[in-house]
Amino acid sequence: MYDKVMETVTYLNEKVAYRPKVAIILGSGLGDLVDYIEEKVEISYEEIPNFPVSTVAGHAGQLVFGKIGGVEVLAMKGRFHYYEGYDMKQVTYPVYVMKQFGIENIIVSNAAGGANSTFKPGTLMLITDHINAFGTNPLIGKNDERFGPRFPDMSETYTKKLQELAKTTAKEMGIDYREGVYLGTTGPTYETAAEVRAFISMGADAIGMSTVPEVIIANYTGMNILGISCITNMATGIAKEAHSHEAVVEIAKRTGNEFCRWVAETVKKI
Ligand code: 6GU
Repeated sequence: MYDKVMETVTYLNEKVAYRPKVAIILGSGLGDLVDYIEEKVEISYEEIPNFPVSTVAGHAGQLVFGKIGGVEVLAMKGRFHYYEGYDMKQVTYPVYVMKQFGIENIIVSNAAGGANSTFKPGTLMLITDHINAFGTNPLIGKNDERFGPRFPDMSETYTKKLQELAKTTAKEMGIDYREGVYLGTTGPTYETAAEVRAFISMGADAIGMSTVPEVIIANYTGMNILGISCITNMATGIAKEAHSHEAVVEIAKRTGNEFCRWVAETVKKI
C-alpha cells in the first residue's frame, strides 16, 4: 500500500506546488465550506490514481486545494463510508495520502444524531473523544512502520491545543457549541432505541456512521486532529419522529453556515 500511496502523492504534487497546512474532511451537507476557499484547484476522485472508485454514478467527490484567509488547505468533499461497501483501507486511504503529502493537521466533520438529550438539531459539538463501535479497526493486518506504530496510543486523539483554538475562536465569534463524545457505528441502519440507551450509558453524546476510521489513521500517522459534529437530528427514542435522511441533510445545510464560519476562522489560526 505504501507504494500506491506514494504514487497518489506524486500525482498531487504535480497538481499543486505547496503543502497545505490543514486538511478538512467535510461531512454530509457540510460541503459548502469549499465556498470559503480561494484560488481553488479541484480534482475529482476519479482522476486520482489509486483513489477508491465511487460506487454511485455521477456522484464522486473532489479534493479541493486552495486558501482560506491566506492559509493553504486541502478539503475533501465527499468521503468513503464503510456502509457503502468500501473496506477499511479504502475508507481511510485519503488520510494516508494526506499524511504522506505532508499535511500535519486534520479537521474531521460529520452529521450526527444527538444522544445527549440536552442537544437539539442544529447543535455544533466539538468532539473531545470517540467510541469505536464499528466492530472492526482499520489497522487490523500487517503493520507498515513507515506509516506508524503497531500499537498506537489513543490517549490524546483529539488534540488539546486544537480544541482550545476552536473554543477560543467560537467564543470570539459568538458561536454556540457543546462538547462531547462521538460514537461511530457502521450504519446504514439508524440505531434501535435500545442501542441508543446502551450507547448513552457507554458515554456517547453523538452517534454517526463515519469519522472514527479516519481519525484512527490520522492519530496513528501522528497528525493533529480537530473534530466537529453537526447534530442534525435526535437519536432514536429521544426523537419523537422516525429518521429521515432528507431531514438530516436539510439541517446539516442550515447549521452548515455556522459550522463553515467557525472552521474557516479556526483554520486561519492554525
Ligand atoms: Cl441518529 N445515527 C447514526 N448512526 N448516524 C446518524 C444519525 C443517527 N443522524 C445522523 N447521522
